[in-house]
Amino acid sequence: MMRYGLFFLLFYTAIYAESLVLHEPVSVDAADQVKVLRGGAYFKSSCLSCHSLKYWRYDSLAKELGIDETVMPNWPDDSWGGHPPPDLSLIALEYGVSWLYTYLHAYYLDESRPTGFNNLAMLHTSMPNPFADIQGVNTLKRGLSIAKLRSRPKQHWYQVVDFGPHGSFSPQEFDLYVEDIVTFLSYVSDPSVVERRQLGPWVIGYGVLVISLSLYIWIVRKKDMATKPKKRK
Ligand code: HEC
Repeated sequence: MMRYGLFFLLFYTAIYAESLVLHEPVSVDAADQVKVLRGGAYFKSSCLSCHSLKYWRYDSLAKELGIDETVMPNWPDDSWGGHPPPDLSLIALEYGVSWLYTYLHAYYLDESRPTGFNNLAMLHTSMPNPFADIQGVNTLKRGLSIAKLRSRPKQHWYQVVDFGPHGSFSPQEFDLYVEDIVTFLSYVSDPSVVERRQLGPWVIGYGVLVISLSLYIWIVRKKDMATKPKKRK
C-alpha cells in the first residue's frame, strides 16, 4: 500500500508541479546539527504559521526548537481555494532537495497571479512569496513568457530572470538561508540519517571482518585438502 501511495505521489508530483527551469544540484548534510537547528529556527519563524510537520518523529531537536503539534496550523481542505498549505514533513523525500532549493529561489513578479508572484519551479503556485523582503523581487527577463520557456530547453532560474535590487539579505546570505531550511526539511523527512552515519563504519567493519574470516577458512581448508591423501571410492 505504502509503495503504491509513493508511486502515486511521485506521478502526481511530476504532472502537478510544472517546473520551467533546471533544478539546482545541491547536496545538503542532514547530519550537520548546526545547520539543521538554524534551518529549523528559520522554518519556525517563516513557514510554521502556514505549514505543519505532523509526521516528524519528535526528537530532542524538535524539543530544542520548540516545535510540536500545539504550534502547528490545521487547515480545512476547502481553505485556500482548495490548495491549503500542505504538511511538509516528507517534502524533501517527495520532491528532492534540488527541487526544494530551486523552488525557494524561483519566485518572480507576475501581476496576473492572485498573490502577485509566480514560481518557475512550480508554476502557478498558490503559496505567497515569503521572501520578497529578504531576497528582493525578480522579474522574468524581457521578451520571455511562460509559453517561450516551455518551448525551449530548460535553463537555470537565474538565467531567465532580471534581478531587482536585493532585499535585506545579500544573494550569498539568501542562498545560505535557503540551504539551511532545505537541510532542516531533509532532516525532518529522514531523521535516521544521523544514526545511519554513526552506524555506517561499524557495518562496513563487520562486513570486512566476516569476509576476511571466510577467506581465511577457505584458504586453510584448501591447504588441508591438498595435503590429505584422496580417499578411494
Ligand atoms: C502564508 C502562508 C504560507 C507561508 C508563510 C509559507 N507557505 Fe509554503 N505554501 C503555502 C501554500 C498555500 C502552498 C500550496 C501551494 C499550491 O498548492 O499551489 C504552499 C506550498 C509549499 C510547498 C510545495 C509543497 C507541495 O506539496 O505542493 C513548499 C515546498 C513550501 N510551501 C515551502 C514553504 C517554506 C519552506 C516556507 C517558509 C520559508 C513556506 N512554504 C511558507 C503557503 C505558505
